[in-house]
Amino acid sequence: VYVRALFARIADRYDFITVALSYGQDRRWKERLVAYASDLGGAHALDLATGTGDLAFALAERGARVVGLDITPRMIELARAKSNGHTRFLVGDMCALPFADQVFDVVTTGYGLRNVPDLALAIAEIHRVLKPGGQLLSLDFNRPANAMVRAAYLTYLTAVGAALGWLLHRDPDTYRYIPASIRQYPGAEAVVRMMRDCGFGRATYYRVLGGLMARHHAIRT
Ligand SMILES: C[S@@+](CC[C@H](N)C(=O)[O-])C[C@H]1O[C@@H](n2cnc3c(N)ncnc32)[C@H](O)[C@@H]1O
Repeated sequence: VYVRALFARIADRYDFITVALSYGQDRRWKERLVAYASDLGGAHALDLATGTGDLAFALAERGARVVGLDITPRMIELARAKSNGHTRFLVGDMCALPFADQVFDVVTTGYGLRNVPDLALAIAEIHRVLKPGGQLLSLDFNRPANAMVRAAYLTYLTAVGAALGWLLHRDPDTYRYIPASIRQYPGAEAVVRMMRDCGFGRATYYRVLGGLMARHHAIRT
């Protein structure tokens, strides 16, 4: 309920915030994430926590048949408004996916895994809906292992978030969820272990922005 209310509130500013917080780099990171997916032509792809649909559209441009799913109805409305009609968008929870087993070739998520209340359950759901040999690609903030780097990173995100929150919503706490979610996130390495435990035969991550962010690649066996 909290996440839904939060994202409903920021949905209309979301595209701007993403560009501002990443200094315009988010688009390049997403392009790169999608570029790592093999054989997208005709592939059945699912983008989770799709937000306003950036990754869903990038997958569709490369020839995939795409479904984008998000728990916040306003995000889905905004994604549909940007769509040319070929990409399907659904309201739904990535911890309880409304799909049969083994139907997707590719699952992507941008800043999705860090926000779910039960990460292991979300990974299990992704595993369930992927076909054997299917790929999971995820981009997210990371939780730096070094305590000093982590403190500096969280202080920075809290300060920038508070400034943007005040400017856009007259509420400095609006974007406090970003450092808060990073604080309780287990980190990229632990997420790799969770993917392996769940049955992803190959799972690995690549450091983005010197390790402040991470890109996960996993293959369902
Ligand atoms: C930071 S946004 C990311 C949007 C988009 N993927 C991007 O990269 O720009 C996180 C999104 O996760 C969605 N979300 C949070 N919890 C979710 C859940 N349990 N299931 C599906 N979507 C969820 C929110 O509504 C929000 O749109």
